[in-house]
Amino acid sequence: MIIRPAAARDAEALAGIYGHHVLHGFGTFEEVPPDAAWMEAKRRDVTGHGLPFIVAERDGRVLGYAYAGPYRPRPGYRFTVEDSVYIAPDAVGQGVGRAVLGAVLAACEGLGLRQVVAVIGDSGNAASIGLHRALGFEQTGVGRSVGFKHGRWVDIVHMQKALNGGDTRAPDAPGLTLGGA
Ligand SMILES: CC(C)(COP(=O)(O)OP(=O)(O)OC[C@H]1O[C@@H](n2cnc3c(N)ncnc32)[C@H](O)[C@@H]1OP(=O)(O)O)[C@@H](O)C(=O)NCCC(=O)NCCS
Repeated sequence: MIIRPAAARDAEALAGIYGHHVLHGFGTFEEVPPDAAWMEAKRRDVTGHGLPFIVAERDGRVLGYAYAGPYRPRPGYRFTVEDSVYIAPDAVGQGVGRAVLGAVLAACEGLGLRQVVAVIGDSGNAASIGLHRALGFEQTGVGRSVGFKHGRWVDIVHMQKALNGGDTRAPDAPGLTLGGA
């Protein structure tokens, strides 16, 4: 398995993976699969902030991806990111999520960031909650029934991991450049 930065040529494969989970899962509250152009715009936005967008590839096929985007746009959030991770349905449970999300966390640590937030769709999403816990995230809260998808109310689970000592020290890096609004 190769772990590498995503490239423009991956957009179709990434949109296909995300689209499956949009249509069949609760991990995202999106309901209509976005196209490859949307995915490429997302990759450019993430990498334009200097943040990691990582894919796993085996035998020339993209198996999954993870990235970290700004948590919120206002400048006070500049040391915090939110992660996203999606694995092809026939590649789950094989360590791909751990590999791509682990690479994203390492890159964020290297940038001097302090908090990574996961907003996980569905309290029953054992795979995502388990993956984040396995990588050192702790649950910080649950948003009860804030989503409605596939005919039922759906919770979100907030998890969080501190990097670089978290709030025990003052910032020693500039953090993200955020435009506000
Ligand atoms: C959640 C997801 C990204 C996990 O990726 P994955 O490649 O299947 O996970 P891995 O095989 O790397 O597992 C790593 C660790 O996560 C935990 N884990 C994975 N699947 C699990 C499951 N079904 N139940 C409980 N824990 C699980 C385990 O601790 C595992 O470590 P182990 O194999 O040593 O036991 C993947 O299942 C997925 O794409 N799910 C649908 C989309 C989604 O919900 N994305 C997250 C949105 S917030």
